Amino acid sequence: MRVHVADHPLITHKLTVLRDVNTPSPVFRALVEELMTLLAYEGTRGVRVEPVDIVTPVAPTTGVRIAEPRPLIVPILRAGLGMLEGMVKLLPSAEVGFLGMARDEETLEPTTYAERLPDDLSDRQCFVLDPMLATGGSLSAAIRFLLERGATDVTAICILAAPEGLTAVEQSLEGHEVSIVVGAVDERLNEHGYIVPGLGDAGDRLYGTV
Ligand code: PRP
Ligand code: URA
Repeated sequence: MRVHVADHPLITHKLTVLRDVNTPSPVFRALVEELMTLLAYEGTRGVRVEPVDIVTPVAPTTGVRIAEPRPLIVPILRAGLGMLEGMVKLLPSAEVGFLGMARDEETLEPTTYAERLPDDLSDRQCFVLDPMLATGGSLSAAIRFLLERGATDVTAICILAAPEGLTAVEQSLEGHEVSIVVGAVDERLNEHGYIVPGLGDAGDRLYGTV
């Protein structure tokens, strides 16, 4: 598993405002989208392209375009939905699949309540979006869904991760080629499975408490 921490001053600046308990939901939502655009720049570094011939006003030349089959973006509901718009702005030709997952706050085990993915993901580049990688249970389960459908090229883009969660995902997906791009790796998890210092419950801060 490859982990890339996108430590850029703009990302750290926006993350600081995102973490602040006084940041209201509308600002939080806007920041998640902006951070996604910055993280997508790193996360899509390996996106597959193919040559294309074009003619500029001056001369013919060869450029590139996003290759077929089109990439698949998979936000993990709810909180991953906040990252979707920022990602499709950069990759407008991509298709979007959905996974709904909720972590049991007692056991910290994820359950899947919704799944809308193509059956065959062989040859598809997949980009999984979830702002928080805490214990890693949700992300491991989400990536396993994709691997079971034949995906071989999976990149997860997260805003924050805990070191324990990164280790757990690596162990759970051993032997598979998976990349993770993350805005920051925080100190640890607390006794409730929350990232410290973190930003609290990302879904609640985006959309309010269910
Ligand atoms: C949050 C977050 C991740 C998960 C991370 O979602 O968006 O999906 O927790 O925790 P883990 O790494 O320990 O599995 P949550 O289950 O709270 O659902 P929500 O997005 O609907 O708020
Ligand atoms: N889910 C969140 O939204 N935040 C955390 O810190 C951990 C899990």
